[in-house]
Parts: sequence; structure tokens; C-alpha cells
Amino acid sequence: MRGLIPDSFIDELLARVDIVDVIERRVPLKKAGREWTACCPFHDERTPSFYVSPVKQFFHCFGCGAHGSAIKFLMDYERLEFPDAVEELAQSVGLTVPREGGRDERPREDKTDLYALLDASARWYQEQLPKSAEAQAYCGKRGLHAETVARFRLGWAPAGFDGVIKALGNNERRLQLLTEAGMVASNERGNKYDRFRERLMFPILDRRGRVIAFGGRIIQKPAEGTPADARKGDGPKYLNSPETTLFHKGRELFALWQVKQANANLQRIVVVEGYMDVIALHQAGLPIAVATLGTATTPEHTEVLFRAAPDVVFCFDGDRAGRAAAWKALDAALPRLRDGRQAYFLFLPDGEDPDTLVRKEGREGFEQRLKNATPLSEYFFTELSHEVDMASLDGRARLAERARPLIGRLPDGAFRDLMADELEKRTGARAMLQPQASAHRTVQRPTTVQRSLVRSAIALLLAQPGLADEVEKPYRFLRLDKPGIDLLAELLDTARARPGINPASLVEHFAERPEYAALQKLIAAVVVGEPELQRVEFHDALLRMEQQAVALRRTALQAKMREGTLDHAEKGELRELLAARVPPAAAP
Ligand code: UTP
Ligand code: MN
Repeated sequence: MRGLIPDSFIDELLARVDIVDVIERRVPLKKAGREWTACCPFHDERTPSFYVSPVKQFFHCFGCGAHGSAIKFLMDYERLEFPDAVEELAQSVGLTVPREGGRDERPREDKTDLYALLDASARWYQEQLPKSAEAQAYCGKRGLHAETVARFRLGWAPAGFDGVIKALGNNERRLQLLTEAGMVASNERGNKYDRFRERLMFPILDRRGRVIAFGGRIIQKPAEGTPADARKGDGPKYLNSPETTLFHKGRELFALWQVKQANANLQRIVVVEGYMDVIALHQAGLPIAVATLGTATTPEHTEVLFRAAPDVVFCFDGDRAGRAAAWKALDAALPRLRDGRQAYFLFLPDGEDPDTLVRKEGREGFEQRLKNATPLSEYFFTELSHEVDMASLDGRARLAERARPLIGRLPDGAFRDLMADELEKRTGARAMLQPQASAHRTVQRPTTVQRSLVRSAIALLLAQPGLADEVEKPYRFLRLDKPGIDLLAELLDTARARPGINPASLVEHFAERPEYAALQKLIAAVVVGEPELQRVEFHDALLRMEQQAVALRRTALQAKMREGTLDHAEKGELRELLAARVPPAAAP
């Protein structure tokens, strides 16, 4: 999604809007020195700890830790996804969001037509439902309340090949749009016909509540539980719209809109497998369930989920297929597990799904199951230890081997450290978090001292992106092969390429990156500070990194010399290093 909006536009946008203005329109602000302040809109408080900095174009709450740019504020405050927040901000200052890449290139008015036609289709299906006795009977059999049918805009696609076509496709252009929307298909002879026939219709809404696709369930033959290959002629039990310009299965979640409507502040969201599971949970008083649309959970899904709520519970059948699907979900979640986000797994008893369970056990019963869901960390180690003999050295080594690359995919942060600790406890092996750690790198094991050096350099640069102009290329500190070093270099490059960029815009360049959360924290860490002092500290940090790099290299070369393995070029290098007399920095 992010890729479609050019970075340069985000820069321009953030330069054009004033965060004070954006927030002030929603939350009354009071001037406090160089900053503005208010009671935080993201948590309950009596005395203001929410600050907005016009210089940094950044907000920060010292109470709950909420922070970010104007875009981030809109995302959090109005619960918008990134592209929608950008769209809204752009509109407020009269800019049009340019798009890169194919799928959004159609002129806007065409898409408006597409949305309108899909909405009309949903309405038409809704109107057909009361007219069909068999559809009514089916809803009754499934225990659907009228209120639920209305909330989910359930409908009925009647028999016949041209219901939708007759009702809505009454000119060439509309027929074309219906085809594009996936409502109408054509056979080999080019004849057009309704895709959905004799099915209970579930509209799929996007995050703004617009209809973008449908799922349709057959309601008669086959009886419940008939295997797919025993069905003839009727197609699959559930038929979904094809991928269209508006509908991408790997990104959409059924009922996310209803969930957001029902909950102002969501702590937990539950992912189940089916349409009916979601609907049964909502009807039972748990409007916190969404479903993927007949696909495995993708990384995009997990990002959307975590933006909706900090706790995500993945709910699966207890059988083998369910376990496989759960592991896929874990795999998709790993890179998104920033600090503060938690994933849980709930496995259901054989032969049950959330729909049947919540009917049997009620809301309380299902909530109890949610409470007892397995945390990701536990599921992770249990699953990996499966069929591994933990009593043997060999078995523990195997576990370490399996776990390491996965832990390495977690974003930098406390959770990753905890998982590495846990692995060490279980196997005695440390997760080496630099994936390609080579022999000479292990000598230079990262120490907290160096790490904080890199971190403070980044934090200081974020405080004053203009400092980047004062650093000469090639960056000599790059020789210090440490976590965060490449990021620092990237930040410097980005800031140099965009003179005058403000701190929040600089960080937005990393919005889709695992380091984003860490950068947000660092920018908040230096909310106050004397600019000249920060400048001195910044250059000092760079110099010390360079010195450490030299000292480490010298130590390594000297060790090689003692072993007698120093080659000709290295000898020359060592001589130069010794001659340069860089004062030894605090050795790691
Ligand atoms: P299930 O077959 O488990 O159905 O499919 P269910 O949700 O329990 O539905 P009911 O209770 O029989 O009505 C789970 C999900 O997998 C997708 C659908 O999204 C469905 O909700 N699916 C299933 C398909 O896309 N096509 C199919 O043919 C079957
Ligand atoms: Mn079911």
C-alpha cells in the first residue's frame, strides 16, 4: 500500500501541513513554551501530558507513550489506515495523492462508479432476501437474528442467470463495470451471466465501510459436511468475488469494519476462519471477530490486525490443517511483533468451530477460551520442540537451529530479547541476532556501550536532521559493523537528500520498516535539549564509533599477527592503523 504513494509526496505533505493545526482541529491545545499541550486523547487523564512540537512536527504523550507525525496522529485518532490518513491530510491542504504502479491508476470517478455499483448490488441482494422462503428458512435454521442480517447486510442472490444484470447492468458501461467488479462473468461464447446464483450473500466491506466484494454460500445440497468433490454443478460451498481493482484477498478481513464500528478502543481482536463464525460471535455479544477470506493469514493481514488492536488471537481448528494454518499465521506475524503487540493462539476441540462453540457455551464460555489462549512464545517453543529430544544435546542443538532464524525475524526490541533469552534457557544456545554473523564478527560481540552509541547518534540526528550535512562521505563509522549502523547511514543519506526535512518526515520514510517503532521512540527521547549541545554530542558519538572500529580492527589484526596468519595486505593495514595513533576507545 505504502509503495504506491511516492515518498517524495509524503515529504511534501508533511512539509505542507502543520501538525499543530491538524491536532488543534480535533483536540483543543494550549500553548506551553515552544510547545502545545492538551489532555491526551489516547488515554484518560486529568492533567495534560500530551505535547505537540511545531518545530519537530511531532506529538508525544508522556503518559501513555503515544507519539508520531501528523499522519500517525490521524491514523490513531480517526483509526485510519496509512493511505487513508494520507488521503485525508492531502485533501485538507488541497493536494492530490499521486499513485505509483498499476492498480490505482484509474481516474477516481471511475472507481466511485465501481463502489456505487457494488453498493447497489448489495442493496439488491438485501431486497431479494425477504422474497425467498428458502433463504429465510435457512437464516432461521442458522439462528440469525433480523438485527444481525441487517448489520452484516446479508442478502440473497436468486436463481437465474441475469438477476443482477437486469437490475443494474442496463447499459454497456454499467455492464462493463459489473464485470470489472466481479459480479458478472462471461462464458466462452462471450455471453454474460450473474456470478452469484442461489446463494446467501455476505458483502465484504473495506475499512471505510464500502462494499468491495461478496462471499456467497449455497444453502441446499450438499448437506452439512458433504465433501467438496461430492457436490456437482453447484460449485463450492462458498464462492468469493475474484480479485479486482478494489478487492485483494490477502489484505481484506471480513467484518473489520463492523468491529471498528462496535469498539471505540479495542484491546483484542479475534481471527476466525469463516463468515458464519464471525457473525455468530458478533451476535453472541463478541463484536471483536474478523475472518480471512478463504486464504492463509498474510503479513499484510497481521499488520492490519495489529493496527486495529494490540492483542490478536488467532483461532484455528485443532486438527492438522488447523495447526498448519496457525504456524503460517505465526510466520506472518513475526516481523510485525513490535513491542506492545501480542499474538495468541486458540485451538478448538475436534469437530467444533467458533459458530458451534459460542452457541453451545455462550459468550462467557468463549471468552473463557480466549482468556486461556496460548501466547505466541509458548506456542512457538512447543511447536518447535515437537519431536525433538530436549534431554539430548543434539536435540537442543536442533531446536536452537530451528528457532534462531525465526527469532531473527522479530523486530528489534524487548520481545525479541526475551525470546532469545528463552531460547538460551531451553538450549543453552544464544540466538545470534545478526543473521550472517561471521567468525570475525563474533569477536566484536555487540556491547551495550556501542549499541547505545549508535542509538544516541540516531536520536541526535532525528532531533536535528540538518546535522547530516556536516558529516562527510564516505562515512568512516561504517567500519563499525554493528546493529543500527546501516540504519544510521541510511538516515544520514535520506536527510542529506532532503535539505530542511523535519524530524517527523524523516522517520516517516521508514514507516514500513521493522525499525519504525524504534525510531519513533528515539525521536520522542530527545523532545527537549539544547541544539548546540546536541550537535557536539552527535559529532562526538560518530568519532567514538570510528575510534572503536579502528581499535577493534587493530586488535583483530594483532591477534592474527600473533597466530602468524597475517597476509601482506593486512600487514600494511595494521602498520597504518598503528601509525595513525587513534587513541584506543573503550574496548568492548
Ligand atoms: P468452512 O467450510 O469451515 O465453513 O469454511 P464455515 O465457516 O464453518 O461455514 P458454515 O458454518 O458451513 O456455513 C471456512 C471458510 O473458508 C472459506 C470461506 O471463507 C468460509 O467461511 N471457504 C470455504 C471458501 O472460500 N470456499 C469454500 O468452498 C469453503
Ligand atoms: Mn461452520
